[in-house]
Amino acid sequence: MAVSLLGTGSAVPDKVLTNAYFEKIVETSDEWIRARTGIRERRMADEKTVSSDLAREASLKALEMSKATAKDLDIILVANVTGDTPFPSTACHLQAKLGAKGAVAFDIAAACSGFLFGLEIGRSILETGKYKTILLVGVEMLTRITDYKDRSTCVLFGDAAGAVVLKPGTKGHELLSVHLGTDGSLAHLLELPAGGSRHPASHETVEKRMHFMKMSGHEVFKHAVRAMQDAAVTALKQAGLKESDVDFLIPHQANIRIIDATAKRLKLPSEKVYVNIDRYGNTSTASIPLAMDEANRKGLLKKGMNVVLAAFGGGLTWAAAVIRW
Ligand code: ACO
Repeated sequence: MAVSLLGTGSAVPDKVLTNAYFEKIVETSDEWIRARTGIRERRMADEKTVSSDLAREASLKALEMSKATAKDLDIILVANVTGDTPFPSTACHLQAKLGAKGAVAFDIAAACSGFLFGLEIGRSILETGKYKTILLVGVEMLTRITDYKDRSTCVLFGDAAGAVVLKPGTKGHELLSVHLGTDGSLAHLLELPAGGSRHPASHETVEKRMHFMKMSGHEVFKHAVRAMQDAAVTALKQAGLKESDVDFLIPHQANIRIIDATAKRLKLPSEKVYVNIDRYGNTSTASIPLAMDEANRKGLLKKGMNVVLAAFGGGLTWAAAVIRW
């Protein structure tokens, strides 16, 4: 059964953290951050804003573009690892904020690959024929679990949300393929150590800063480059396409060097690759729907284009999808 994306939407908080800010709080430099990551600035939500607020803003824009309303929604999927509360899910909070009373709502946890995992889950649900309209959101507020004393991670992350509406049929941008992967033996490379059943919250976990994200950046980097490239090639094969058929790449925005390596493998010139890491940093599962919405609203995505999405993240997880725009 054909499944298509209808409207796109996104949201970012107003507050900007520049590289100059990090020069004041940790031992780093604008030059190091730009050269090693490609990031110039990132966004940070204020204390009153929660993930479902950003998700709501992005969702309303996606619904408007799709000419749909909250009442039309059968399912709400929210990919995230930094929800409003450990439970209920952020999808439940979003359902209430949208007034989408008829929708079934649940979360997806696959770190930075979560939005693409959501595309596969959404497609499978629509293929049952039981449901007609799905809202898929990627939202993350990584600034809430970032250790601003750890220079190796604090410069990287920002807050954002992106959303799409999925429907059966070809009226819209058709999802041609999705490929997903996981290697749980590498879970330790990127994790939030405390707050779960292994290390429930205690004075000790707070004192040891275990409620902040820990990452072996260099190790993750090595796996990321290979996983993202291989996932893109596999998703293209599944769609019956070759690397030379790719018109546009929207990669997860984790590091400009990883983006460049993926583009090189697909033999794509820079004008066919969407990059906004300079403005938002790594927004995890929000990064692809945010980039896709920006590219869509700028008119960069033309009807008939083969658009590749590719991501990797904690888990480790990786994923790629191909859309005929
Ligand atoms: N400023 C200055 N120096 C720094 C900084 C900083 N902010 N951070 C680290 N360094 C230093 C290190 O201490 C090290 O110094 P040393 O050689 O004296 O020990 C040196 O720079 C090199 O460190 P590396 O970690 O080897 O640097 P690398 O080139 O790998 O860049 C980075 C680090 C940017 C984190 C990179 O590895 C990366 O992007 N990794 C992937 C991260 C990622 O995408 N994560 C997945 C998604 S997140 C999610 O799923 C939630």
